[in-house]
Formats: sequence, structure tokens, C-alpha cells
Amino acid sequence: MRAGLLGIEGLTRDEIQAILDRARNFQPKPDEGFRKLDLLRGRMVVNLFFEASTRTRTSFEIAAKYLGADSVSITAQASSVSKGESLVDTLNTLAAMRPDAIIMRHAASGAPHFLQRHMETPIINAGDGTHEHPTQALLDARTILDRGASLEGLRVAIIGDIAHSRVARSNAYLLSKYGANIVLCGPASLLPQELKQIAPGVTLTTRMKEAIRDADVIMMLRVQLERQHESAFPASEYFQFYGLRLEHLRLAKPEVIVMHPGPINRGREISSEVADSQRSVILNQVENGIAVRMAVLERVLSGGAVN
Ligand code: NCD
Repeated sequence: MRAGLLGIEGLTRDEIQAILDRARNFQPKPDEGFRKLDLLRGRMVVNLFFEASTRTRTSFEIAAKYLGADSVSITAQASSVSKGESLVDTLNTLAAMRPDAIIMRHAASGAPHFLQRHMETPIINAGDGTHEHPTQALLDARTILDRGASLEGLRVAIIGDIAHSRVARSNAYLLSKYGANIVLCGPASLLPQELKQIAPGVTLTTRMKEAIRDADVIMMLRVQLERQHESAFPASEYFQFYGLRLEHLRLAKPEVIVMHPGPINRGREISSEVADSQRSVILNQVENGIAVRMAVLERVLSGGAVN
């Protein structure tokens, strides 16, 4: 069976490195646009998004087009899911049209893994519930490496709603394969103790200053209100305890970079001054989303399964 990209957990460091290296070839030169290539001419990908997305969906679509492939995007609201069709039936229907890959985002953790077991068409996971978001972790790694840093021994603070974050999980898997030190930080109610088991390099703290001290990278996360059925903390106090402000940056290494997968909520988890500062690489992450997704699409569509 052909396979797509379901998660970072099952990838080897060599497989990850191959994608990161290839993505570098697709990055535009300074002051130039992305090169339009025809490496995947005649191929067709379907984007199937059951959850909201701006960056991920658009960049998968653009990445496919920059490689010469065609892409079609469907949102759940506009599909027959709204008429009661099951997920399996929707996927089988799309697979019958013989696309070369299906890129999917779904609120249920494990949905793409379950579907891949029953389908020939490769699936690329664009975020499954609170589980994994592999291309986000890959583009984050590409962005850190672009700053000249090696991932080995790096201190990365990931701060916010860890419990509901597929971005935190995929990054913890990826960075720990490279021997980085990862500090997961958030309110106790949003910081599952079992995440320590991901790797020896993963530690947990509820204290933001402790997480940021000597950090090379600060990765902020949005509070995923859509995944919380009751409030895990008083909303009015969140920014006071876990919002990133300029004064925090003094505790980190002088060359610290601030990342955020987006969408950012200014004044909630990050101040505008930090988001718009010289230390912020948030828009570099967005740009790298294209290059990394080009590398992933090329690999999956040319039969080199990623996992
Ligand atoms: C993230 C996601 O969907 O998991 N966004 C993204 O893909 N860039 C994070 C979020 O929604 O907060």
C-alpha cells in the first residue's frame, strides 16, 4: 500500500532531514518569488478540510501549483458531510476519482491513520485533533535551521495550551529526535504530565519565566477554545501569566527567535510588540510552509512514502 505522511512520531531522523534539505531547494532567493516548476505536472491532489484553516490549506494548494500539479479544495461545510455522509464514505468517494493524494484535516485524533489503513490513496495529515500536525513541525524546524542554528542541544520553550496542541506534540517528537531540550509550559490544567514520556529531553513547567530562561526558541500557542468544553483557567488572567511580552525576551538568549503557528491572538497569548518585533519569525514560518509542503508533496507523489 502506498502511504502519505501521517505524523512525525514514526519518521526517522534521516527521513525528516531529507525533507528539510529538499525544502531548502524550493525556498525563494532573497527578493525573488518561488520558482514555478513542473515536477508534478499531470498529478492531482485533493485538500479536504473539516476544520478551519488559512495557512495550511492555502499553502498546500499553492505548493501543489508551484510544482505543476493540480489541486482541488473542499471544506466540510460545502461537502456532503453536511448531508450526513460518513467520513469513510466521503473518503472512498474522493478516492474513486483517483487523485494522487488526499490532504486532510480533521477534529478527531487518529482519523487519517484509520482511513489510511483502508485506502490506497496516500493521505497527508494536515492536523488531526490534538494529535499531530507533521508539516507544521517540519516547517518550524526549517525556520529554526534558517537562523543558522543546529537543532542539537537547542533549548526550545513551547508555551500555551499544550494539552490541545497537535503543533506541540509534533514539534516535541521532531525536536527530540535531534537531541533538543524542550520545555513545555502552560497552566497545570493544560499541561498533561504524560508528555514527559515523549523523550528524555522533554520537561514540563507551569512557570513561564522558568521556561523562557536561556531559551534559543520560544514557540507560542493559541488557546484552543474550540477543543475545550469548560474553561480550564480564568480567561482574564491568561495574558498576565502566559502572555509573551517584550520584558520576557530579556530572560532568553540574546538571539532568541519567537515562533507561533498562527492564527495569533494578539493580547491573549502574545503582545503585538513581540509579534511584530525583530525577534519574531512568524511570517518566515508561513513562507517556509510552502517550501516544506512542496518537499512533502514531491516525496509522497513520487512514490517515496514518508511513513
Ligand atoms: C495550528 C493548527 O491548526 O493546529 N494552526 C496551523 O495549522 N497553522 C494551530 C492553531 O490552530 O492554533
